[in-house]
Amino acid sequence: MEKITIIGAGNVGAHAAVSAATLELGNIILLDRNADLAKGKALDITQSMALFRNDMVVTGTGDYKDTADSDIVIITAGVSRKPGMSRDDLVEINANIVVSIVEQVVVHSPNCILIVVTNPINTMVQLAYETSGFSKDRVIGMAGILDGGRFKYFIAKELSVAASEVTTMVLGDHGELMVPLEDHCQVNGQPIAELMSRERIEVIIHKVQYGGAEIVNLLKTGSAYFAPGLAVIQIVKAIIRDEHKTLPCAVYLQGEYDVDGAFVGVPVVLGRNGIEKIVEIHLSERELKAFNLSVAHIKERTEELKQKRL
Ligand code: 2OP
Repeated sequence: MEKITIIGAGNVGAHAAVSAATLELGNIILLDRNADLAKGKALDITQSMALFRNDMVVTGTGDYKDTADSDIVIITAGVSRKPGMSRDDLVEINANIVVSIVEQVVVHSPNCILIVVTNPINTMVQLAYETSGFSKDRVIGMAGILDGGRFKYFIAKELSVAASEVTTMVLGDHGELMVPLEDHCQVNGQPIAELMSRERIEVIIHKVQYGGAEIVNLLKTGSAYFAPGLAVIQIVKAIIRDEHKTLPCAVYLQGEYDVDGAFVGVPVVLGRNGIEKIVEIHLSERELKAFNLSVAHIKERTEELKQKRL
């Protein structure tokens, strides 16, 4: 059975563990520096699986030795934002956390595929990539799946259609400059431009870009976790089941989309070895303009962090 380690037993980590166990994806280890928190949540999740007649076991620990030889390691640890904060405000504090975790992961699971969820994702995943020394096909940031789910929800609500009938793609940064691809969004194959006005499309794009902030403002104590926890497990499932599925993920671009040396959300094909292919779709003029702005922001934030850490 595959071994999946989730680092950080906060809300996102715990929900990722629930989702992975529900889908029976493998042997799940939940690690937190607060070992008892990880152990308590792991017991609770495992006992809930017994109610489903599902034999998955989640093991809680504070010791990296228990994560040895994981096939997949997901990093969810870090500080989440509070009302009024942007994901960018977390960059320095979470950078230290991500680096110290990756140093341990490299020692205990040198062959794993690494998935980063900690915000600001595009910069944290680049830091994880550089710290790990792993090849770029084994380092992935989760963002576009979550944002695409929000985009589906808002379109479905606006048009009173089933969310499952809406096709979306969100690229670029996982922040306010994310790029919901309006000219690729369809309901049962019909472009949204045929179904709603330009003004409504713009309102919905704004809602997607601030979808995380809307939840932060309501929760007041932290950020979303049900959808982020499930979204990262879509990546894990595509890898473990060798699905060859195309999902938007933050991956290292070296020339694709005319971007060099940054982790940017783009569609990729995922299979047992990680990223099998970066899919280059044709962006409309307005999508490309928004995408380039988003990439510039990722590069600027990542460069600023590098200067501060020198
Ligand atoms: C979100 O968008 C936590 O960044 C995550 O909800």
